[in-house]
Amino acid sequence: MGSVSLKIGDGSARFRRASLCSSAVNLLMLFSVITTNLFALYAFTYSPKDHQTYHLLHHTQKNISLISEQVALILREIDSSQKKLAQMEKELLGYESIDLSNPNIANELKVFLQHHQLPLGKDSKTGITEMVASVGHSCEKSAGLLSQYMNYKVSGPCPDDWSLAQKLILRGCEPLPRRRCFAKTVPKVGLDPFPISLWKPVSDKIVSWSGLGCKKFECLNAKKLSRDCVGCFDLVNGSENERFVKARSKNDFLIDDVLALGSGGIRIGFDIGGGSGTFAARMAERNVTVITNTLNIEAPFNEFIAARGLFPLFLSLDHTFPFHDNVFDLVHAASGLDVGGKPEKFEFLMFDIDRILRAGGLFWLDNFYCSDDEKKRDLTRLIERFGYKKLKWVVGEKADTAGSGKLEIYLSAVLQKPVRV
Ligand SMILES: *[C@@H]1O[C@H](CO)[C@@H](O)[C@H](O)[C@H]1NC(C)=O
Ligand SMILES: *[C@@H]1O[C@H](CO)[C@@H](O)[C@H](O)[C@H]1NC(C)=O
Ligand SMILES: *[C@@H]1O[C@H](CO)[C@@H](O)[C@H](O)[C@H]1NC(C)=O
Repeated sequence: MGSVSLKIGDGSARFRRASLCSSAVNLLMLFSVITTNLFALYAFTYSPKDHQTYHLLHHTQKNISLISEQVALILREIDSSQKKLAQMEKELLGYESIDLSNPNIANELKVFLQHHQLPLGKDSKTGITEMVASVGHSCEKSAGLLSQYMNYKVSGPCPDDWSLAQKLILRGCEPLPRRRCFAKTVPKVGLDPFPISLWKPVSDKIVSWSGLGCKKFECLNAKKLSRDCVGCFDLVNGSENERFVKARSKNDFLIDDVLALGSGGIRIGFDIGGGSGTFAARMAERNVTVITNTLNIEAPFNEFIAARGLFPLFLSLDHTFPFHDNVFDLVHAASGLDVGGKPEKFEFLMFDIDRILRAGGLFWLDNFYCSDDEKKRDLTRLIERFGYKKLKWVVGEKADTAGSGKLEIYLSAVLQKPVRV
């Protein structure tokens, strides 16, 4: 029916346009329309007097049922279009929930994702009625990799595939499904007691190098892994052991200066993209517990941080931080915070940081790389929207590390989260 009314609208529009060109055609058509209608009116209304009321009533009822029939048709049409649109959206995003009846799904994934009714019915404390397993909805997009990941012998050794797991995480498959196999173990011999462990070089033998280009730390030290990690595994030579205690530029703030700004004490913190954990190590020396968030991109960051006696968190920045609101006294982040993509993506991240930081807590943005002035302005505007107090704010320029002579812009700031009411 929708298409019928569309055609009528179209026709009258064309009729109006034509009338501008030729009034003769216009008059002729007007005449024919009027006479047709008059004939129709005559044909429908002509009937003996005593039957007229009955006919009118009959027509009204017929017309109403006709109209409601057509309305129902239109609604069905709209409903089916909406379903089609949703289906297209799902196909585009790959966000269809995993279809467990698909024969290509690994059996272990089916077992893991099965719902289980609680034996005693609804739990009065939580209100839940069944146990469900959680897996990232984007896992469906990487069905092949996921099947490979879930293909193992139950209670046997897992394939040596942590890098496959990371690949899935980077494609948004987070959280990963749990597995019922034993992860490959690496004997951790020669770990030092805390706090000696903070600065002792880590042996090549106690980390897993599978799936990585380098097979020893010496190889990693010769590489620039990221803006925040240049030789960051070298705790003895190089500059890693000077970070946060010795400034190399006005963008480098010292840990003791920042700690002095924290009212009410800084006791626990979160370091985003924290490289080899040096920020957490310096904080540990000051009795502040810091969790270091990092994946293992091109290097065994997590094992290295753990070997130093620090807390590594293996989580991508696409994932909501697994912490409750208002818990951290301090959040530290450097260029690793730059998640790329649309501005909204960065905004979601900033709001999540704001969420886990307590009122009065500090957000330390440390040498954040801004590719150009516009990026710096956008970032500044975003930060200002949060209403933080700027305790420190330094915009600096450095010659770029590639040596092209181009100046790069860096922003360092210590911001205090306000109390919002
Ligand atoms: C019902 O519709 C017909 C045309 O289909 C029309 O001639 C008639 O006047 C309508 N009746 C009422 C009561 O609206
Ligand atoms: C540091 O440098 C010295 C001298 O160049 C070298 O002997 C030593 O092995 C280096 N230490 C590390 C951990 O790289
Ligand atoms: C850290 O805590 C220990 C044990 O309570 C204490 O001896 C030490 O002085 C503290 N260090 C700092 C820098 O506060």
